[in-house]
Amino acid sequence: MTFIKVAETSEVPLGQMKVVKLAEKEVVVANVNNVYYAMENSCTHMHGELSKGLLEGNTLTCPKHKAKFDVTTGKVVSGPKVPLMHPKIKDEPVSAVKVEGKDILLETQ
Ligand code: FES
Repeated sequence: MTFIKVAETSEVPLGQMKVVKLAEKEVVVANVNNVYYAMENSCTHMHGELSKGLLEGNTLTCPKHKAKFDVTTGKVVSGPKVPLMHPKIKDEPVSAVKVEGKDILLETQ
């Protein structure tokens, strides 16, 4: 397993998120109860930018159609709010996170 530094802990305060680059992908690093989690920034529904959504506890709501994801697991909590449709969407890919001192590191795939 290879981990690379993507941010410092001071850049991701409690309850906040930061977008970082990991192998050509954008990843959202979120601070939930001072534990850091990382999942892809592009919504699995229609590529909404999840980092522009609302993080409440461990639930991140997509700004586009309000699908909700658990940032600690990437799992879908509830699907998109699209009138007359109930699209099934995939869970968000997540990355393993490690903290070393002040550094946040993500596992490269
Ligand atoms: S793009 Fe995220 S819910 Fe539609």
